[in-house]
Amino acid sequence: MVKLIGKNKLNIAIFISGKGSNLNNLIKFSKKKSAINIKMVVSSNKNAGGLIFAKKNKIKIIVLNCKNKSFNEKKLLKILEVNKIKLICLAGFMKILTVNFIKNFKGKIINIHPSLLPKYKGLHTHKRAINNKEKYAGCTVHFVNKNLDSGKIIMQKKIKILKKDTISTLAKRVLRLEHQIYPRAVQKIVANL
Ligand code: GRF
Repeated sequence: MVKLIGKNKLNIAIFISGKGSNLNNLIKFSKKKSAINIKMVVSSNKNAGGLIFAKKNKIKIIVLNCKNKSFNEKKLLKILEVNKIKLICLAGFMKILTVNFIKNFKGKIINIHPSLLPKYKGLHTHKRAINNKEKYAGCTVHFVNKNLDSGKIIMQKKIKILKKDTISTLAKRVLRLEHQIYPRAVQKIVANL
């Protein structure tokens, strides 16, 4: 196991598009005795609520110009390289990374998804799970590959779907699980580098 202290902490970029509760949670985790340094937040949306957490914590922000389908990937890859980013954590990032980007980024890319993969890839996971009368819901941290929500699973956690659950109560309960496992999954990856 590599011990990462002070300036030798692993540089991470978090990619977001929305409210950023996972980002905020990972920032808090990085400030504890963790081996990570959140060096940059990349957003596909200039109005993403989560940017407030980056600003508050003085973390560099990159907003992608997504009018362009491939948002100048080459430039982004260069920025990641210059900033020595070794791990990208997708946290509610609503753009699909291209094969080219995944192939050319020199570190690892992981994502958190609000379902028990391989079930319910894509959107509206809670609605589909409730409609299908699933007994369990949950979340998964996985490596990103060229197929949506399909890379190797790093960590999963499940909860029972309650009779009284609505899409919104289930989403809230699963989000709490996400906040538990995303830091743990990051820690696991860093420990195995
Ligand atoms: C989470 O449910 C995550 O699993 C999914 O998008 C949501 C992002 O939430 N990929 P937040 O922006 O981190 O609050």
